[in-house]
Amino acid sequence: MKLAITGKGGVGKTTLTALLAQAYADAGRDVLAVDADPSPCLAGALGFPDELRAELHPISEMDELIEERTGAKKGTIGGFFTINPRVDDIPDRFSVLHRGVRLLEMGAVDTGGRGCICPEAAMLKTLFTHLMFRDEDVLLMDMYAGVEHLGRATVDFVDAMIVVVEPTRRSLGTANQIKKLAYDIGLDRLYLVGNKVRNEDESQFLEMETPGLPVLGFLPTDLKVQEADRLGIPVYDHVPVLKSAVEKIKVGLDAGL
Ligand SMILES: Nc1ncnc2c1ncn2[C@@H]1O[C@H](COP(=O)(O)OP(=O)(O)OP(=O)(O)O)[C@@H](O)[C@H]1O
Ligand SMILES: [Mg+2]
Repeated sequence: MKLAITGKGGVGKTTLTALLAQAYADAGRDVLAVDADPSPCLAGALGFPDELRAELHPISEMDELIEERTGAKKGTIGGFFTINPRVDDIPDRFSVLHRGVRLLEMGAVDTGGRGCICPEAAMLKTLFTHLMFRDEDVLLMDMYAGVEHLGRATVDFVDAMIVVVEPTRRSLGTANQIKKLAYDIGLDRLYLVGNKVRNEDESQFLEMETPGLPVLGFLPTDLKVQEADRLGIPVYDHVPVLKSAVEKIKVGLDAGL
């Protein structure tokens, strides 16, 4: 099963990805969680201990590897380099395992606003495509709002894209934009998850105002989410209401996919 998690900045993509990853791992599944945020923080939400976090390096920052595989130095623009470098060994070699969740950090590519054709962008793009084709038990991708690095392969292989929203019109507006971008590439298996929901009114608001996407479930607001972050422990362990809420979302996903 392959799931991409998107949504406006700060809505709770990383929190949901971490919760789902641990829920699937605890259910005995092999989970590969991919942190595709340019400033990775999924390791924190999953409560990876410091010594494991020290072993994690974003792929886009591996200068030697990028040069070895693409034939050009990172940051090169123009010139010749391989646009489909070898990446098949990367997920296993550079992911770090903790409590049944393997985590891979993609890292940032500085496009300078131009839409970059540079070795590190080629590397990440090829890696994304490879992840789509790979036979993963459970693949969860913590994305940012855009779907630009979701190429054609995504349409065929991503089982669902989850758009996280808060009970605000702004985050619903972003959800609608994401829906349009996804539909443009032919991906129509989209679901909404409402996060930071405080009461029935807010969940009803989301049910009423969803941009035509089925609502998979809701995660309540709980200040212990921030506390977990400060203490460096997984949200999954520290916030029981979120653990049970994500369990319901998982049941919905398993039933629908
Ligand atoms: N259910 C919740 N209750 C309370 N606070 C929450 C909840 N979910 C997330 N938060 C808080 O909201 C903030 C953003 O959460 P998170 O990092 O998961 O969002 P994100 O969508 O991944 O953000 P970004 O776009 O920066 O990657 C964090 O400070 C987190 O602690
Ligand atoms: Mg995030």
